[in-house]
Amino acid sequence: MYVATPTSASDVPAPWAPDSWRTRDAAQQPTWPDDGALKQVHARLSSLPPLVFAGEARHLTRALGQASAGQAFVLQAGDCAESFAEFTADGIRDKLKVILQMAVVLTYGAGLPVVKVGRIAGQFAKPRSSPTEQVGDQVIDSFRGHMVNDDLPERSARVPDPNRLVAAYEQSVATLNLLRAFTKGGFADLSQIHAWNQQFVATSNEGRRFEDIAEGIDRALRFMDACGINLTAEDTLHQVDFWTSHEALILDYEEALTRRDSLTGDWYDCSAHMLWVGERTRQLDGAHLEFLAGIHNPVGSKVGPSATSDDVVALCERLNPQRIPGRLTLITRFGVDAIDDHLPRLLAAVESEGHPVVWMCDPMHGNTFTAEGGQKTRRFDDIIGELQSFFRIHREIGTWPGGVHVELTGDDVTECLGGVEDILEGQLGRNYTTTCDPRLNGRQALDLAFRIAELLRN
Ligand code: PEP
Ligand code: CO
Repeated sequence: MYVATPTSASDVPAPWAPDSWRTRDAAQQPTWPDDGALKQVHARLSSLPPLVFAGEARHLTRALGQASAGQAFVLQAGDCAESFAEFTADGIRDKLKVILQMAVVLTYGAGLPVVKVGRIAGQFAKPRSSPTEQVGDQVIDSFRGHMVNDDLPERSARVPDPNRLVAAYEQSVATLNLLRAFTKGGFADLSQIHAWNQQFVATSNEGRRFEDIAEGIDRALRFMDACGINLTAEDTLHQVDFWTSHEALILDYEEALTRRDSLTGDWYDCSAHMLWVGERTRQLDGAHLEFLAGIHNPVGSKVGPSATSDDVVALCERLNPQRIPGRLTLITRFGVDAIDDHLPRLLAAVESEGHPVVWMCDPMHGNTFTAEGGQKTRRFDDIIGELQSFFRIHREIGTWPGGVHVELTGDDVTECLGGVEDILEGQLGRNYTTTCDPRLNGRQALDLAFRIAELLRN
């Protein structure tokens, strides 16, 4: 990381700038081997076109504002880490397909609009609990996401390469281009998505449990048709807004893509519509919050068991001093056994300060463990369990459970245990392809959506 030259010698704090974070401690940054190469990459990225526009980010803030007020529900989903190696049009299509299928079920369950946000087109960097890992008798640097190094378990593969920042940008451009084509070009047709859901319900024993929900959606579509609403011609029924997001981890990358909006003069990180900080980088005086505080995108923060109520209120003040609805999403991730100890106190503290936030549940990251075969995994039942508690606690306190945040793929992977096909520990090795955390496969993800719809309807 190269250090910014101070812009002011006086005691007056310098105004925020995309590089202000350089004056703070930045956790989880790679040690780039060559500062000159990093500077060149930074200059190149700074000159490339933005991936998203400020106006789109403002649109998403308004949509999330509805979720903070109990008038919408958010589905944020995608890979733990996108991969340079597994990058195909079919893979993107299948992931989008699952998310859209889930969104239809959730829309019906909530009776409200569902804001669809992908962990996609930029989710290439990973924070690690240990900077090194043991491979055989060697200790090598940890994998930090394809934006930084390679996942191959070899010393040379783990050397950070700044050219990967440009490759991540390029893959994000291509991904976003395809997403825009799919979501506006007919792939998101409501009747079609519903037909896929009916297939899921009809072709599995577990799925049959959800027949009444599928039948309810079917009746709603027939009702609209009978009222003279043309289901194939109506734009709102075959186009959707789909937003991108990722963890703003590698600040060299995020800074280089931050641009001043010509309309408002405000700064936006144009690498994605929404950015979040992770559990390991949400230090109040750290570089990541300094960066997020100055951009005008909607932002999020993961919140785990170690966060005190004061920390979380201070985080709200720091990231959303003007209390703009939709600006801040708190993504809680405690684990099924810990959520009852933590969520009520945080809801009470943030509510009593009157901060508008979207409360989102990440039922994945507090429920990870290592199976006997050595793979990281999660139990579908623990994921459901944390979600059930999330909805119950919000109901008890009178706050709105505003959304869910999950790791999934459209591929038929065997990374999480249980769910529709009841994947067992001994079967994890069958198709375990994630480069980081275990993801729900397409059928497990749909199973989850139907169960959340039940929780929303209760
Ligand atoms: C993640 O979302 O992949 C992640 C690393 O989460 P957390 O920061 O909550 O651990
Ligand atoms: Co993850």
